[in-house]
Amino acid sequence: MKPASRLGTSASTSRRASSGTICISVSPAPTNPPQEAPLPQAVCPGSFDPVTNGHLDVFVRAAALFEKVTVAVLINKTKSSLFTVDERMDMLREVVAPYPNIEVDSFHGLLVDYCRNRGIPVIVKGMRGFGDVDYELQMAQMNRRLTDVETMFVSTNPLYGFLSSSLVKEVATYGGDVSGLVPESVLARLTARVEERRAGS
Ligand code: PNS
Repeated sequence: MKPASRLGTSASTSRRASSGTICISVSPAPTNPPQEAPLPQAVCPGSFDPVTNGHLDVFVRAAALFEKVTVAVLINKTKSSLFTVDERMDMLREVVAPYPNIEVDSFHGLLVDYCRNRGIPVIVKGMRGFGDVDYELQMAQMNRRLTDVETMFVSTNPLYGFLSSSLVKEVATYGGDVSGLVPESVLARLTARVEERRAGS
């Protein structure tokens, strides 16, 4: 199906009724309609401390829609993390290895500047539920206010609707079972890191 038809009718319409005038205003037809799918490039940004199966599901689904997907790890020196940025990128590279159109990178500063510098027109994020809506919409609207970079959301797989890196870390720290919630390679590193921390404290 062509993207233009996916977007629906785009003509302006006005209708005169006997009791008055009803104007139905629809956005004008785009002069430069989107390209045929797949779309060129998107970024999946985040902290990924560590990457979860919920994140991976979003990357893979984005990779089915876009020619190239960049998973970009935010370098945030003010936020304490369990894994360094390099460790997080290593874990990400391991889990996206089967997908040739997904690459891993890092960035600091504004996400939209990263997008602009790389020519990336779309941000793709997962939407888990109502809890995400306010914050995600706020960021999407701010990013749109700053640039013409669009944000698109994919609905998180319900299997992972409750999942976050923070919860995974908390549960793992207190000895809970997080297998099935993070990729196997991440589970091994997470278990080792939790044990290191426990031994050091
Ligand atoms: O995994 P996270 O921590 O929820 O990801 C949040 C992230 C990295 C996507 C967001 O904090 C971000 O884009 N930070 C970069 C700085 C920036 O652009 N801030 C303005 C957002 S409107």
